[in-house]
Amino acid sequence: MGFARVRFNNFKNIEPREMKWSPGLNLLIGENGAGKTNILEGISMISGWGTLEKGEKTSDIPTWNSGSSEVQLTGELSSGEIVKVKVAKRFFIKVDDKTVTASDLRWKVPVLSFLSEDVSIVEGSSSSRRRLMDMMLAIIIPSYAFRLSEYRRGVRQKALFLKKGLPSMVVDRALLPLAAWLWKMREEGIRLLSEELENLSELTPAKIGLSLKRGGAGMCADPEDDYSASVFSCREREAALKFPIVGPHRDDILITAEGRQASSSLSRGLRRRTAAALMLAAADGVKRKTGKNTVLLLDEVTAELDGNGRNLLFDSLLSRGTQVFAATAEPFSLEIPCAVHTVKDGRITDSRNS
Ligand SMILES: Nc1ncnc2c1ncn2[C@@H]1O[C@H](COP(=O)(O)OP(=O)(O)O)[C@@H](O)[C@H]1O
Ligand SMILES: [Mg+2]
Repeated sequence: MGFARVRFNNFKNIEPREMKWSPGLNLLIGENGAGKTNILEGISMISGWGTLEKGEKTSDIPTWNSGSSEVQLTGELSSGEIVKVKVAKRFFIKVDDKTVTASDLRWKVPVLSFLSEDVSIVEGSSSSRRRLMDMMLAIIIPSYAFRLSEYRRGVRQKALFLKKGLPSMVVDRALLPLAAWLWKMREEGIRLLSEELENLSELTPAKIGLSLKRGGAGMCADPEDDYSASVFSCREREAALKFPIVGPHRDDILITAEGRQASSSLSRGLRRRTAAALMLAAADGVKRKTGKNTVLLLDEVTAELDGNGRNLLFDSLLSRGTQVFAATAEPFSLEIPCAVHTVKDGRITDSRNS
């Protein structure tokens, strides 16, 4: 499954005209500011995800000075079904004129997106490692995204209590089952990613190990006991910092290569390849659990791979029969067939197969 064509109305700088896609690899090339990332973002939104940029409000999405706030994204899936997403304060999604939820849509057409900062997923901030895990789990477990957002709401509430110097025990009790459940799911997710990584040894010459480091916790194996014990022992620190430091919002995924910390022991080139392998592992994990191929959105992530690594990545993606959208400001040559789309001033000016 993938997108045969899309059209975005009143969406950022993208012109409201039809864009046709290849079922295989689509390269989007063009100068900075052309609209490549915006196209990827639109595709991500008609696949049941929010905006790509963290903290962006839906009110930032309409075309500047258009005088209208109604954004409409339309896409035809390779099955012929029509997806329509209307963005107002929230998202309204229809497939063939029937209202569906975002998680229904993510299940129907699984899409994983990787942003430019994800090239440094091995050594960068923990948020991009959590993001990888959360995207994969949100597709595989339909209730995951809902529970995660409930949990985050609770964390914001707890932060408010701590800020005001109020006791946060009540919120902790409400957070406990959510936190424990998220830890369990993420640990399952780590197992799945680890198993899939074993089949990707052509990209990762070293043996890559993954483990979940529970945020501010790890005192006991049982997740519920762990949350209770860790919150109890961190009570004073949380009160002093006025911020919740225990829980899945502070999780990290520890990555090792041959038993050593990957961020410091691997060369830059091997870290980039490990990042690529993690993306593939997430896509393969989704495939194993849902039976479906994942559409991949890659924003500037391939630019830092060497030619060989890039060919390995795209080769293995294509051998899986996946639709891929890869945006890059620096054109590169690939030894595999792909459709090259030139983006300029918010429109595709040229599409050709090579
Ligand atoms: N709401 C908006 N309305 C109109 N143009 C926008 C909006 N948001 C961003 N842009 C424009 O989109 C362009 C950035 O597009 P982007 O997809 O990030 O480019 P690229 O990825 O090709 O470098 C900028 O020129 C910016 O001015
Ligand atoms: Mg961009």
